[in-house]
Amino acid sequence: MRTLLALALLTCTTFAHAFESVPKPEYRTRRAALADKMKGGVAIFFAAEEPILDFMPYRQDEDFYYLTGWNEPGAALVVIASSPAVAATDITPARAMRPYREILFLPARQLRTEKYTGVKMDAATPGVTTATGVDEVHAMAEMPAILSAISPTHRLGSVWTEPDSKQTKALLDFFAASIGLGTTPPTQDVTDLTTELRAIKSPAEVALLRKASDASIAAQLAEMKAVRPGATEGHVAGVIIGKLMDEGCERVSYAPIVGSGKNATTLHYSSNAATMKSGDLVVIDAAGEYSMYASDITRTLPVNGRFTARQREIYDLVLGAQRAAAAAFVAGKSKINDPNHKEPDSLDTVAFNYINEHGKDLHGESLGKYMIHGIGHLVGIDVHDPWIYSRPLEKGMVFTIEPGIYLPEENIGVRIEDVVYVDDQGKLDDLIAKLPHTAAEIEAAMKH
Ligand code: GLY
Ligand code: MN
Ligand code: MN
Repeated sequence: MRTLLALALLTCTTFAHAFESVPKPEYRTRRAALADKMKGGVAIFFAAEEPILDFMPYRQDEDFYYLTGWNEPGAALVVIASSPAVAATDITPARAMRPYREILFLPARQLRTEKYTGVKMDAATPGVTTATGVDEVHAMAEMPAILSAISPTHRLGSVWTEPDSKQTKALLDFFAASIGLGTTPPTQDVTDLTTELRAIKSPAEVALLRKASDASIAAQLAEMKAVRPGATEGHVAGVIIGKLMDEGCERVSYAPIVGSGKNATTLHYSSNAATMKSGDLVVIDAAGEYSMYASDITRTLPVNGRFTARQREIYDLVLGAQRAAAAAFVAGKSKINDPNHKEPDSLDTVAFNYINEHGKDLHGESLGKYMIHGIGHLVGIDVHDPWIYSRPLEKGMVFTIEPGIYLPEENIGVRIEDVVYVDDQGKLDDLIAKLPHTAAEIEAAMKH
């Protein structure tokens, strides 16, 4: 009996450590910040649905996760921003402490489905308010009635929604009909607000991004030992995935790209079906997600462990462009992408100019035209975190610097990608600093 109990506790402990979270109060801080930005009205977020085929992958809706940390499917969050009428009618003691109201709606438990996918909580589960950390928790079935009770002060004209949410649309159609409105009034896009909130990472988020990056560095180091002539790209992808899981990641951040030879020149090649050949390069863009936070790393290796002179020339150019972009960075001023390479403050322009001014193709032409993708993107709960790219990069942001040159004519593709954090001094902290960068470091790391 005692052994069984110890085993059960051990299992629980292991599970609890498998998925980490920022401190619970941080989710409430985020909801308060959202309510403040809303300047009135009601925001509605739906969680991801449980897949109909229970063996299909499930991942929580990102904004919903950002605001709640709740990882179970099928829930909804309602945030009611400051309003005197709401404050006057509110009876929740916890609510009296805050200038807004928050309600989590949980779906009814599906006992048969739970046999397949595991036990869930519902609004009647003892301790559910503590477990969720949301002031009020109700059954999903009560949602229309509770929204109707709020509607006399808020109406539907001040509803903030995720524009692509079909659940929200269905709910609002039903809600409009239930209060005698013929059409659903326009809504405002709540992702305009969450995009701004999510862009600035808290120290706890940076810690998770660091863990995702450290696990991904370990996977990239393992792959450097696995690349050799005769091995398949798929084998290398398998080594990466295995190491990511060993290091505590729950999944890959995106399908790993292991592209050798000509495949190195296809940006998002991910069939990973070829056998690697001596003399070729291989671009490996692969990283993992740790407790919902993503990393994103690319390294380019010579399959036989030695760069040719031309491969090294192109490699050094890409590395030079990455370093030039990082050196040019000024918090609050630099932007990421500029497809026209005209904006002097864009890191894209800096990298493009560097590549264009150094090196030539086989026809003596400048290489800028072979840098065919943007220099980077924000990283967070999504590997491509949302951002308004016309705006400058600020302290607290995490983004990639990933220049590349792709020369199909020469079977050469080189991309080097690091994730960087803008610290509170405005300096760039490279979360991938520990992974080899130079051609010589790559060759040394590939030695057995
Ligand atoms: N791995 C996808 C990207 O670099 O954007
Ligand atoms: Mn990237
Ligand atoms: Mn990448």
